[in-house]
Amino acid sequence: MLVFTRPDEWQKLRRAYFNTPASIGFVPTMGALHSGHSALIRRAAEENELCVVSIFVNPTQFDRSDDLLAYPRALSADLAAAEAAGCDLVFAPSIEGMYGSRPERSAADYGHLTETLEAAKRPGHFDGVVTIVRKLFKTVNPDKAYFGEKDFQQLAVVRELVKREKLPVRIMPCALVRDADGLALSSRNVRLSPADRQNALALWHTLREMKSRKQHLDPRKLEKWAQRHLEQQPGVELEYVALVNENSFEPAQKWDEPVRALVAAKVGAVRLIDNEPLTD
Ligand code: PAF
Repeated sequence: MLVFTRPDEWQKLRRAYFNTPASIGFVPTMGALHSGHSALIRRAAEENELCVVSIFVNPTQFDRSDDLLAYPRALSADLAAAEAAGCDLVFAPSIEGMYGSRPERSAADYGHLTETLEAAKRPGHFDGVVTIVRKLFKTVNPDKAYFGEKDFQQLAVVRELVKREKLPVRIMPCALVRDADGLALSSRNVRLSPADRQNALALWHTLREMKSRKQHLDPRKLEKWAQRHLEQQPGVELEYVALVNENSFEPAQKWDEPVRALVAAKVGAVRLIDNEPLTD
């Protein structure tokens, strides 16, 4: 596995080491890799001749500087995990390399999608995501890019970016990966204390229980039930729980549309998100 750090190195490396044309599968990450990332990398490696993983903690997508500082960083373990999952090249640029001397983000205004839920709670977050994903796509030029459904709204925003800017890349959604106890895998989980980790399970348990309650309640009523339920869970500071139409992100009204439940909460000092489809 090769590691490169400068955006302009990629085209040279590609010419020197790999015969073109080769299909490129790309997995953008912020490092602190876990089994969810490994699943994305394995799939990208299986479905393409070359698998490229980027590791870059993108400063412009953090709405709070304390969150950026606390974000876990583990480059040598990440390199080992990427290689074990079948990655051929890791792109690990510096902030300067991606942004020059002043990291700036450009506004991504995709209507309701970039106003609701995560966008409302983390102002500027999707501007930063779109800014860096656009830069990474332009550098790596992948045929396919793999994104986890854990960040379900991010996936929708990236799809919209590709559609609006007619970027020549296929977005490949990959199912969320859970730990054995049901907690959605996240790089942030390492910051949960054992007690917080236990409390955090309320998110998954509530999503699961919503599935069994949907026979009796319409989506609007089920959302109200989930909100009341999560507000009562010890150690969970609920930010939102929402039942939305997966395509429009508008509040879901009926069970004959594709409904997904999305939740965000602080548990201890850690902000967690999770989601689950409620219709087939
Ligand atoms: O999902 C992430 O890890 C990040 O938001 C991404 C897509 C790598 C952009 O920094």
